[in-house]
Amino acid sequence: MTAVRPVRLNRRASLTVGASLIGLHAPGTAYAVGESAAMNRQDHAPGTAPPHRPGLQVASRLRDLADARGIRIGAAVASRPLVAEPAYREILAREFSSVTCENVMKPSFLQPSQGRFDFQAADAIVAFATAHAMTIRGHTLVWHNQNPAWLERVAASGENASAALRDHITGVLTHYRNDGPVPVPAWDVVNEAITDTGALRDTLWARALGPGYLADLFRWANEADPDARLFYNDYGAEGMGRKADAVHALLRGLVQDGVPVHGVGLQMHVGIGARQSPSQPDLAANIARLRALGLEVHVTEMDVKLQTGTGTDDERLAEQAQVYADILGTCIEAGVTSFTFWGFTDAHSWIPGFTGKPDGALPFDTTYAPKPAYHALTRVLAGG
Ligand code: XIL
Repeated sequence: MTAVRPVRLNRRASLTVGASLIGLHAPGTAYAVGESAAMNRQDHAPGTAPPHRPGLQVASRLRDLADARGIRIGAAVASRPLVAEPAYREILAREFSSVTCENVMKPSFLQPSQGRFDFQAADAIVAFATAHAMTIRGHTLVWHNQNPAWLERVAASGENASAALRDHITGVLTHYRNDGPVPVPAWDVVNEAITDTGALRDTLWARALGPGYLADLFRWANEADPDARLFYNDYGAEGMGRKADAVHALLRGLVQDGVPVHGVGLQMHVGIGARQSPSQPDLAANIARLRALGLEVHVTEMDVKLQTGTGTDDERLAEQAQVYADILGTCIEAGVTSFTFWGFTDAHSWIPGFTGKPDGALPFDTTYAPKPAYHALTRVLAGG
């Protein structure tokens, strides 16, 4: 993909612990980066520290415009650049009103060994968010990826699997209770439990707990924190189709059974090019039927791949801006209340690692300059 600017993640940069720059803690005391083997590049290895451009000129901040529209605008956050890069902190705090931990609230990070919870890295991100009046989306209590080895062993053995998972949910939600010191208002209780063809995914949890397990997860979560808003989160269920139908049917069943589920997260990992993103009518119709169940709808992980399209750099960036704008506009119109990108800068996007190809899927480039997508998003939020 010659037209796409390469993302350089492996150039070593000197790291400065910059927590004092945001006025939270003395240098060296905050944002301690854990040592779990499960940590990924963004949360563990030194990254590139791009030049900081003080006084970057932008017309209006996304978060101010979003406030005026009554919607939260969010980004997934990685621990490493939050520690190492002043520009990352500055733009995050300036532009966004919601934060999701990209990795450090997943089970492998929060309970690396049985009964030993480690909230340090996640709490550092929560502290940053709180200091900047941002809300937090917890991600994720139950998933088939990024589990610690001990939990996988327990699940595979079948014995005590249900107790272990319940203890995990209870331990995490007790720490983050909404009447406690570190409140997390919304949680992705379970991530990606449905297959692309609409079946219940055959995961370690479905095998260990049986097909009715999803209702239990929400009940356990609700018991641990009755004030937390509880979400089902998935990808590829944004527009209409087999998977979206299955997610809708699952949620309708849970709601009918009185299970405490409050919302659905549409991940929105999409791309430019034909059929790489949902059509606006399909997206609107799907959101409408989910809302008709009484559910809140969040977009939880949006990025727009360039590698799926063709054309010059400028053409692709313009198409990407259009995809971002169309989807945000449709979502605002349809009543989505929170809209989160999976990162915000191309310097720290999971897409190159995931696809094996360079890309540039986010609204800020690798030097933290706003891209056409950023400007298109501001126009949509401004109502223009
Ligand atoms: C991804 C992170 O971005 C990566 O850093 C990590 O290595 C793997 O997980 N759907 C999800 C997210 O729900 O948790 C995933 O995050 C991306 C796909």
